[in-house]
Amino acid sequence: MALLSRIESALEASLRLSGAPGCPPRLHQAIRHAVFPGGARIRPQLCLAVALACGDDDPGLSDAMGAALELLHCGSLVHDDLPCFDNADTRRGLPSVHKAFGERLAVLAGDALIVMAFRELGRASAHHPERLPVVMRLLDESVGPPTGIIAGQAWECESSARLDEYQRAKTGALFSAATAGGAAAAGADGQAWFALGGNLGEAYQVADDIRDVVSDPALLGKPVGQDLLLDRPSAARELGLDGAVIHFDRLIAQAIDSIPVCPGEGLLRSLVLAESRRLVPSEGPFGVDRPARVAPMRSTPAIEPAGAARSGFKPSTVLGAGQAS
Ligand code: IPE
Ligand code: IPE
Ligand code: MG
Ligand code: MG
Repeated sequence: MALLSRIESALEASLRLSGAPGCPPRLHQAIRHAVFPGGARIRPQLCLAVALACGDDDPGLSDAMGAALELLHCGSLVHDDLPCFDNADTRRGLPSVHKAFGERLAVLAGDALIVMAFRELGRASAHHPERLPVVMRLLDESVGPPTGIIAGQAWECESSARLDEYQRAKTGALFSAATAGGAAAAGADGQAWFALGGNLGEAYQVADDIRDVVSDPALLGKPVGQDLLLDRPSAARELGLDGAVIHFDRLIAQAIDSIPVCPGEGLLRSLVLAESRRLVPSEGPFGVDRPARVAPMRSTPAIEPAGAARSGFKPSTVLGAGQAS
């Protein structure tokens, strides 16, 4: 089964369970609104791609890890959009959860998604129970303090923060859990896969900072210009646009260098390159100028495009209209 179909099926199954009889209907609707339609589904796709590169001998567990990562990610977005954080009215081209359901249900839906993520893993440990503590710890470290998403968001509440520390916690940690967790779900050594996720996750946040400056809300499906407005640390603000693009390209090169030797190495390399091309294209209306030394990248995304094909919003098409299929 294609990676995206596996992910969507696993997410549907998780939501069926949480929305079973007895669940307050509006809570269920709010949770659904947070998860479907999806965005890029990049974290679970990365997790499954690494699991495949490591043999993927327990697809039930890798699917659960992928779904858990996406549930956590969706929960983090619901909380991130709340008025007490970024106060964003739109997400993935639709009203954000608190705009559609009110703040109280948005807080609860975000909480529920975090709990559902851990429940997914618990449900999928039948074949290899010895792997459960490993994947569970990876997931918990990616969201909890000292260095997970919660810590990343909390750096915004400090008087000063280091950009790399902030970005690694807020975004890189879940990417590291995706790569290490994909490997661990397949019975391989997760440790060897941490650096790939960390570099890619940091690059992903740098790309998000760039498009916050140069892109279009209709393309992104969320507000732009937020980092300046909210006084957030951002690669574009600290390094300038050109500096941020150079930093992004450097992080992508580091990500490629950190792919462990494995049978799926070539596929993973092309996947990272295609993803970087999609995130920060050189051509198109929102393309950026790059120094000549940067090699041209493949134009066909190796990770399947995902998400809502409505209201003109193209998930993760990011900087370049029409760059993603
Ligand atoms: C948005 O993540 C938040 C960041 C960490 C940049 P994505 O860009 O992966 O969001 P979706 O899931 O595709 O909507
Ligand atoms: C969000 O970072 C990262 C999370 C941990 C939710 P941003 O605030 O920069 O992401 P967007 O731009 O709202 O998607
Ligand atoms: Mg934020
Ligand atoms: Mg935000």
